[in-house]
Amino acid sequence: MVIFSPKTWAVLSVVAPIALALPSSTAAAVDCNSTALMEAADAYVAAQTAGTLDTLQNLFAGNWTYQENNKQIDVKKGVISKALKIDHRRTNVDKISCATYTEIIITDSANPYVIGTQIHHNAADTKIILIDSIASTTNSWIFDAKKTLQHVLEEKWDPIPEGKRDSRAVIQAAGDAYLSMWNNATAADAVPWGTPCTRLEGSAYTGKGKPDDSCKPGIPSNHSQAGNTHRRYVVDEAMGSVSIFCVWEHMMMAADSHEFRLENGKLRYVHTMTVCGGQPCKL
Ligand SMILES: *[C@@H]1O[C@H](CO)[C@@H](O)[C@H](O)[C@H]1NC(C)=O
Ligand SMILES: *[C@@H]1O[C@H](CO)[C@@H](O)[C@H](O)[C@H]1NC(C)=O
Ligand SMILES: *[C@@H]1O[C@H](CO)[C@@H](O)[C@H](O)[C@H]1NC(C)=O
Ligand SMILES: *[C@@H]1O[C@H](CO)[C@@H](O)[C@H](O)[C@H]1NC(C)=O
Repeated sequence: MVIFSPKTWAVLSVVAPIALALPSSTAAAVDCNSTALMEAADAYVAAQTAGTLDTLQNLFAGNWTYQENNKQIDVKKGVISKALKIDHRRTNVDKISCATYTEIIITDSANPYVIGTQIHHNAADTKIILIDSIASTTNSWIFDAKKTLQHVLEEKWDPIPEGKRDSRAVIQAAGDAYLSMWNNATAADAVPWGTPCTRLEGSAYTGKGKPDDSCKPGIPSNHSQAGNTHRRYVVDEAMGSVSIFCVWEHMMMAADSHEFRLENGKLRYVHTMTVCGGQPCKL
């Protein structure tokens, strides 16, 4: 990992200011309509398949934002405006913060992508206010869509039975501790490491299908001055999961997606996508 000196860091901060849309954190008084949230996620997948926004048009709030790889851009220039053949899709639903997280994989060798998309909605009417995507492709960190698909299909993301679910606070704290390890020596101890646990970092997999698989190999502890900032969350208690998007400050200020799944209070799966501003990601 690149360790910026405080001086370099100050310069980078000036050169690359980041103004990301962060969804409002006002919790809804009642749970959001999860059917409507899932319908919007389906419409998003249909839009990405077609390369047009037609299926989403009626679902947008008057003012909505499109953000891709941590930048607000014209949606017509975004990956969503490119028709892609989707090989895999999974959506997690956050009824409390009125949002979904969708993971999609496109192995087409002419246009390979692994994309994570958070869709944030108005609590009042479930209209879409923010589409926030991390779109990894060639040159992204350890990118190989075919390998990623192969490993994703080996995993089991069944809903966790009621009564065995962790609270959203516990799930989110696990993800936050993991992201904080890079610049906080005590955070690594706060991660509820599970056994087995497998980490899918781009296309690199720590799992060997063994009961003692561990997510710890290669994990740092306070190696950097910089934190992972501008975090955006989607928590699904039924899935035991949290999606966190952030600025990965340790590697080229990359746009990053980390998704975590807990089972019985312990970390079971980690998926990452990391995009380095159109350049090859390098440590
Ligand atoms: C939830 O959303 C679905 C799909 O839009 C709709 O058919 C249903 O009436 C909504 N339920 C409530 C309670 O508003
Ligand atoms: C629309 O949303 C953006 C991003 O949240 C905000 O910066 C802007 O002020 C909003 N515009 C209006 C007209 O509400
Ligand atoms: C990280 O390490 C630095 C230098 O090694 C130390 O000064 C700092 O207190 C540590 N911070 C945390 C939160 O562990
Ligand atoms: C470091 O992580 C621990 C455990 O998550 C947390 O309690 C503490 O506040 C963090 N320290 C800093 C400086 O962020």
